[in-house]
Amino acid sequence: METVVSGIRSTGKLHLGNYYGAIQNFVKMQNEYNCYFFIADLHSLTTHPTPANLHDNVKTVLIEYLAAGIDPDKATIYVQSDVPEISELYLYLNMNAYMGELERSTSFKDKVRANPDNVNAGLLTYPVLMAADILIHKATKVPVGKDQEQHLEMARTFGNRFNRLYNHDYFPEPYAFSAGESLVKIPGLDGKGKMGKSEGEANAVYLSDAPEVIRKKVMRAVTDGGPLIENQVKPAEIENLFDLLKFLSTPDTYNHFNDLYNSMQIRYGDLKKQLAEDMIIATAPIRDRINDIANDSEFLRKVAAQGADKARESATRTIREVREIIGFMKF
Ligand code: TYM
Repeated sequence: METVVSGIRSTGKLHLGNYYGAIQNFVKMQNEYNCYFFIADLHSLTTHPTPANLHDNVKTVLIEYLAAGIDPDKATIYVQSDVPEISELYLYLNMNAYMGELERSTSFKDKVRANPDNVNAGLLTYPVLMAADILIHKATKVPVGKDQEQHLEMARTFGNRFNRLYNHDYFPEPYAFSAGESLVKIPGLDGKGKMGKSEGEANAVYLSDAPEVIRKKVMRAVTDGGPLIENQVKPAEIENLFDLLKFLSTPDTYNHFNDLYNSMQIRYGDLKKQLAEDMIIATAPIRDRINDIANDSEFLRKVAAQGADKARESATRTIREVREIIGFMKF
């Protein structure tokens, strides 16, 4: 059976981008594959959270994983820092990852641009830690959104390089995966780019947002004065709204508003109202479960402990073999 690994950073509440890019696939794949889904708390250290924030954010992601339908009896759910073998593999892979290629990574360049005062080594070697996350379980499929494609390419590079260096066909090649036809990029509400936590609170719709909050955010989404000619090419902010409709509404609803746009009869207020209602319907079951699970500390503790045990079983096996391949010997 193929092995699947994926994770989400513990940087706060999960949004629709996380859901459609990653979690929806997690829930589908847990029935067919040997799945490991984790909370990337080590990755979140690049932005220096306080201990209290770190703890709260890890708990939030765990609760929302479970509320979204990841089943601890089917998939191994764990916290990254509970598996120290990942950090050990990260160290070994770092010896074989070069400054130039790390500096060229798009996400590194974006982060340097966004926060030039905090360009730390953890940020530079972020893709190496991500490769360690994946290779530690020798995974081949990694369900992620489109923004992670380059990181997967780097994970393959680091795995292959290890294999070549030690002349050992050890790590398989992991590939980004989506159950749909292609990797997904969910746009944000600000009309600019992808939905994200760092792109501003109003840009993202969270799985835990109350219906009135969702309505307010969607109604505030950026639009223009309407098309000036029939079949006009949509500007980015309008295309974004239509993309969201594609994910959240039925094809009939999408076609209805698309026809209105093409015949210059669109009323953005109507489109946004429909979009908000469809978002509320899509998130309702998750929102309801979040509250129930959040209060069950005993259950959360059990899931994390059981997941850590299972993840370490697989990780220690890999680390034992990796040490042998590298040449560490017991005397
Ligand atoms: P993170 O925490 O930024 O995002 C988690 C997952 O959500 C997806 N995602 C999106 N998909 C579509 N549209 C969006 N607007 C959107 N925003 C976020 C991401 O593609 C991702 O799948 N580096 C990873 C975490 C990680 C990881 C790993 C993933 C660490 N180690 C090993 C897979 C395997 C990250 O920053 O995700």
